[in-house]
Amino acid sequence: MIKTKNIVLGVSGGIAAYKACDLVRRLREKGAEVFVIMTQAAQEFVTPLTFQTVSGHPVATSLFDLTQENEIGHIHLADSADLIVIAPATANILAKISHGIADDLLTTVILATVAPRLVVPAMNLHMWENPITQENVARLRKHGFSLMEPAEGSLACGYEGKGRLPEVEEIVHEIEKLFAQKNIRKIK
Ligand SMILES: Cc1cc2nc3c(=O)[nH]c(=O)nc-3n(C[C@H](O)[C@H](O)[C@H](O)COP(=O)(O)O)c2cc1C
Repeated sequence: MIKTKNIVLGVSGGIAAYKACDLVRRLREKGAEVFVIMTQAAQEFVTPLTFQTVSGHPVATSLFDLTQENEIGHIHLADSADLIVIAPATANILAKISHGIADDLLTTVILATVAPRLVVPAMNLHMWENPITQENVARLRKHGFSLMEPAEGSLACGYEGKGRLPEVEEIVHEIEKLFAQKNIRKIK
């Protein structure tokens, strides 16, 4: 199902960003081409060089980069994707994309794409339980985004509860399920 698919992986600035490296590796093992977009905050956690090495493709980081934008790169990324996955998705990214904000490369690609979108949040449990975040999640579902629930367990912030990034294998399984759906197609 995943073989030969173009998957755009958006990595936002959560502590679980390093786990997305393993996600790239697993998707490539299954035959996908993975193109990574990192937010500025994500680059505080993992370097673009790491994702470039594991994905085998240049990593897109900037909306206004002259090299990356020589073919209107954000529209190219938005159009070429069979699926866009955001993992980990921060509370901030949920807030922005649920309101159509497009103030960096990742959020602009999300607004510009007609590809299916899978969002995998990971955050502190109080951020997750915050009614504002829950409203944003409901809004995304209403607008056709697929969302995975965070896993429960011990969190990097020291708390115990819901907020962990689901295991990489579960994310891969969710992606396979999406591709297996007969009606997965461009939104509109
Ligand atoms: C050490 C550290 C860990 C963080 N982990 C998370 C996290 O797991 N989830 C989250 O939503 N925000 C987390 N944040 C906050 C985000 O980095 C912050 O909201 C940032 O603006 C997100 O930007 P982005 O959504 O553009 O990537 C963390 C911040 C720090 C300093």
